[in-house]
Amino acid sequence: MFQSLQPLPSDPILGLSAAYRADENPKKVDLGVGVYKDANGKTPVMRAVKHAEEFLVNFQETKAYVGPTGAAGYNDIIATMVLGESLKQSLGGRRVTVQTPGGCGGLRLAAEFIVKAKSDSTVWVSDPTWANHVPLLGSAGLKIEQYPYYDYDTHSVRFDEMLSCLQQVPAGDLVLLHGCCHNPSGADLTRAQWQAIKEVALSQGFTVFIDLAYQGLGDGLEQDVYGVRLLAEALPELIVVSSCSKNFGLYRERTGALTLICENDAATSAATTLLAAAARANYSMPPDHGAAIVQTVMQNPELQADWDAELKEVRDRINSLRSLLVSSLRAGGLEQDFSFIEREKGMFSFLGVNKDQIQTLINDYSIYLVGSSRINVASINDNNLHYLVDSVAAVLKS
Ligand code: LMR
Repeated sequence: MFQSLQPLPSDPILGLSAAYRADENPKKVDLGVGVYKDANGKTPVMRAVKHAEEFLVNFQETKAYVGPTGAAGYNDIIATMVLGESLKQSLGGRRVTVQTPGGCGGLRLAAEFIVKAKSDSTVWVSDPTWANHVPLLGSAGLKIEQYPYYDYDTHSVRFDEMLSCLQQVPAGDLVLLHGCCHNPSGADLTRAQWQAIKEVALSQGFTVFIDLAYQGLGDGLEQDVYGVRLLAEALPELIVVSSCSKNFGLYRERTGALTLICENDAATSAATTLLAAAARANYSMPPDHGAAIVQTVMQNPELQADWDAELKEVRDRINSLRSLLVSSLRAGGLEQDFSFIEREKGMFSFLGVNKDQIQTLINDYSIYLVGSSRINVASINDNNLHYLVDSVAAVLKS
């Protein structure tokens, strides 16, 4: 039965990591997958996470099953982080948060849930969007459409076109927004633009679905959820999928959550049973370790303060790398204006080079970037910056 299977092309992001690992060039640079790297090129376990793990080794009393919706304490912590204490309180029984296997697991659970709620739903995603949104949502049976988002010429959000498109999206469809640190462009919505989206969502009646994978990596933990909280307060329904991969550095622990807001408490209670059933039918229950770490960190004021401080170090370093890259490209004699990289948020920006130039950077220089020219700014350090700038200059000038 497996004789006729044909191999699939490699994943556009994870495939690059495999190619990078296999490359023997000592100068190779991995600007592909969205993983933070420190000044030594390492992805550290955060200090507070290490302490929490030590605590768990010593004091965790059982590994017995938790249940399809995960740990109640963790879910409450994530709801507070995403919504803030007062909004969480005021939403009361209209809100439920369930633990998921990372952000991907949360997106997939959301997709399964949406299919159950309305099987012919269409989800509108930004053009461009994260490469895995379409497989994650589409393979659950959702139809996918695109709304205009990034202007590659002006390096900004095509907001007028985006809004005109959203003004045509009917009730019953969903609009997927990036809460902050847009992946792949790094171009975020302004506060005024979030306000305008709120108005159109209210008047059209479509359901907003937010992917919040980078809270704390842009301007700050609170600043990065301005749009999420604005919509959570105003709209009758909302889905928010969040992740602790980046802000706690828990990538491989698969630690995420799905927060759902419904029109009333009864709808939320019914929806919770559907979420639990969908989790049970897919993976039974989410892995515990990452969520137990988050809970341990956030329940200990000293660990929480240290985590907050280290997250700030990460955020500040990424922002300083953005400036350093722009000034180094300028000093490298490149005529193109790369200043937009400094204005963008989070780990990613487009380098703005074409497909052939991307292939040359990968094949001839061992500089790995995604096929859209997305680069992970958080991979740059003193050891690879000059090689990177010289290589980009050589390719762009040739
Ligand atoms: C990325 O966009 O590189 C990250 O979100 C990692 C992934 O799974 O693609």
